[in-house]
Amino acid sequence: TRPPATLLFIFGGSGDLNFRKLTPALYNLFLDGYMPEQFEVVGIGRTAYTDDSYRERLLEGIDEFSRRKNGPENQWATFSPRVGYLQMDGGDAAAYHLIGDRVKAREADWGGPANIIFYMSVAPQLVPGIATNLSQLDFCGDKSRVRIVVEKPFGHDLQSARELNALLLSHFAEEQIYRIDHYLGKETVQNLLALRFANTLFEPLWNHNYVEYVQLTAAETVGLEGRGGYYEQSGALRDMIQNHLLQLLCMVAMEPPTSFEADEIRNKKVDVLHAIRRIAPDQVDQVAVRGQYGAGEKDGGSASRKPTPAYRDEEGVKPDSMTETFAAVTFFCDNWRWEGTPFYVRTGKHLAEKSSVITVQFRPAPHYAFPGAAAKSWQHNCLIISIQPDMNIRLRFQAKRPGQTLALDPVEMEFNYNTSFTEQQPEAYETLLLDVMAGDATLFMRADQVDEAWQIVMPILDQWAAQTDPASMPIYEPGSWGPDQSTEMIEKNGFNWMNE
Ligand code: BG6
Repeated sequence: TRPPATLLFIFGGSGDLNFRKLTPALYNLFLDGYMPEQFEVVGIGRTAYTDDSYRERLLEGIDEFSRRKNGPENQWATFSPRVGYLQMDGGDAAAYHLIGDRVKAREADWGGPANIIFYMSVAPQLVPGIATNLSQLDFCGDKSRVRIVVEKPFGHDLQSARELNALLLSHFAEEQIYRIDHYLGKETVQNLLALRFANTLFEPLWNHNYVEYVQLTAAETVGLEGRGGYYEQSGALRDMIQNHLLQLLCMVAMEPPTSFEADEIRNKKVDVLHAIRRIAPDQVDQVAVRGQYGAGEKDGGSASRKPTPAYRDEEGVKPDSMTETFAAVTFFCDNWRWEGTPFYVRTGKHLAEKSSVITVQFRPAPHYAFPGAAAKSWQHNCLIISIQPDMNIRLRFQAKRPGQTLALDPVEMEFNYNTSFTEQQPEAYETLLLDVMAGDATLFMRADQVDEAWQIVMPILDQWAAQTDPASMPIYEPGSWGPDQSTEMIEKNGFNWMNE
């Protein structure tokens, strides 16, 4: 069933996120027949566009970034008349009647109240002002049909996140606020729930008795991509771990939900965050490693290697910057299920590969009857869940190598999305936008989740902020797996990062 009639306002309508992600997602939903029968999408921004010139600009985004382009049937011609532009300054309270007028006009056309969604695709410092201005519109408190969508970063630290939550909650009810973490919209991430809770196979082993450790990696080959200004204030821990990776950790570690109600899932996830051991200031250096990429060369995709500048030489970055482009942290989840099992999490820019992978490593067999020579290449049982760009799940175990000598080899069983399913994968933003229109908040962050996640990373951020000597920042080579300290962090526990 399609969502009810919807009017979607995008603040930051002339911005990059809309151009690359939001409009292509809406367009694909439209082609797949998921958009409401009655809908309008209104971009809001200060840039001067007419409806027509705005649509032209959006079509360029479709051509470049959409998983489906505008084909010979010219589907864009059917979609685009339902997209418009409103030139206004989100900071100008006096202009908000334009939004009210638009809503009234459309509801008159459609013959009744519509769902109204405000998407904040703007710099974080603009969100409070826009939210406050919106609250003067008399329909904004209507919980049944008005929603606001807030992009990350959700605050810069615990205190600013609390202030932002308090401000939003002074104007809107929690159920109206959709805090996006786009990782949760990825198919492979949603599949973690299916893998764990629609099968009996894994769950009996899914605890500290059998799981030796869990690794979560989100490695990127890209650098700053022109976002120096933002990244310099953020760094890898805030940009990726506070949100995306801790959310993935929750999906791996949560208890089974009793239903798929939004709050049931979110309660189970927040329980995990709550159980994550808080790191004492004098422990930070034991469990957290940061790094920054230096100058080097990277594989340009072909045989050629391209020189890449050091982070400190990037545009918008201070020459003695202490912002980390790599972070690795060991977390422990102090609860019955996970006591003592480490969760190793890492992320970085300009690393060896683009790959987001979760590895669940199982403990060795309690007794090993095979002769030593048989087991030369013995490896742990592992469940390797590739989130992107590969989309597969592999189960590693030992098998007898055929022949008259008794030799064992690790082998893998694999589930691969591309061979098991013929469907195209929806983009994360398609799933998330459809959920907002349908009023399903399951895949969105509740205020308490954001708060807990900040509490977890704050001791690390504070400790790092106090270490200001530029020479103390571990520098790593672009195209590597990060600084040596990251390897040391995991090796001192007798383990290795899974780099493949
Ligand atoms: C964003 C971060 O949230 O996620 C970026 O701000 C990062 O720095 C991006 O590159 C990664 O997303 P994905 O979907 O490409 O893994």
